[in-house]
Amino acid sequence: MLHVDLAGLPLASPVILAAGTAGVLDEMSEQLDLARVGALVTKSITPEPRAGNAAHRVWPTRVGMLNAVGLANPGVDAFLRDHAPRAAALPCRVIASIAGFSVEDYTRVARAMSGCEGIGGVELNVSCPNVCGGVEFGAEPGALGELVSAVRAELGATKLFVKLPPVTTPAPNTIADLARAAIDAGADALCLCNTTPAMAIDVRTRKPALGNTTGGLSGAAVHAQAVKIVYDVHRLVAREAGVPIVGIGGVTGWKDAAELILAGASAVQVGTALFADPRAPIKIARGLGRWVRAQGAANIGELTGRVEV
Ligand SMILES: Cc1cc2nc3c(=O)[nH]c(=O)nc-3n(C[C@H](O)[C@H](O)[C@H](O)COP(=O)(O)O)c2cc1C
Repeated sequence: MLHVDLAGLPLASPVILAAGTAGVLDEMSEQLDLARVGALVTKSITPEPRAGNAAHRVWPTRVGMLNAVGLANPGVDAFLRDHAPRAAALPCRVIASIAGFSVEDYTRVARAMSGCEGIGGVELNVSCPNVCGGVEFGAEPGALGELVSAVRAELGATKLFVKLPPVTTPAPNTIADLARAAIDAGADALCLCNTTPAMAIDVRTRKPALGNTTGGLSGAAVHAQAVKIVYDVHRLVAREAGVPIVGIGGVTGWKDAAELILAGASAVQVGTALFADPRAPIKIARGLGRWVRAQGAANIGELTGRVEV
């Protein structure tokens, strides 16, 4: 009932752990039975190790959280040595998130990941709003297309997921323009979307709350925005191209996940909700199962994009 085929990658559940919110690889397994999620996405991995930004790296807001982690990660060589060997034995699919500051950065990490047993897909983080190089790839269809086709050429049979930034303005490029560029360049699926640029100020010290001054907003605050982005991209680009969407943004309960499915997603990712309740994905999957049954559908895929407008 909850089984999904995500661009040829079969998942037992449409609920996926979002990049950067569940450790480098499988650290969540101490709190969450990974057999109960469809897949996990690794921390974004860059060619070289990165220490990340100064504190504070995360900051709670009234209805979500801010983060400016700065892509802290062990780098691809240490990832391959210390983490990747466990991937094939995990009870869920593993999608490797990759990031960088040049096309060569991305292709180097993509090449390494594609040869890795147990890694079923690569998710391209072109939309990290915290490090200036990342946002440029995700902001301009030409640069994005060039990056996606260069990475596609390295991946062979490994699936390519492209995670876009949350563009909500019509100019100069819409989210549909970016989605089309990614699909034309060979994306197997789209992940919509990364965090929304945001900022908080400590009014007593008059200093920014985050060490990086600005960061990315996630959690319940961005959910309705994610629903619209998924709805727009599905309707304008992805449905006709036959490219699945992974909905991301403020999924804290099964209804949030169901909304993204109706808007056009084939699967969802859960990030911020894990900090409050590491078992949230299990509850979300259970609720989705009941909902699919109540809707009279044989499989959750029958409900993708089925909002009645
Ligand atoms: C602490 C933290 C770290 C994150 N690190 C990454 C990352 O390394 N790569 C990435 O693509 N997204 C990263 N994200 C974004 C999430 O994967 C997700 O796109 C975003 O948080 C929205 O989903 P949510 O509202 O369920 O958290 C991070 C988010 C948080 C909160």
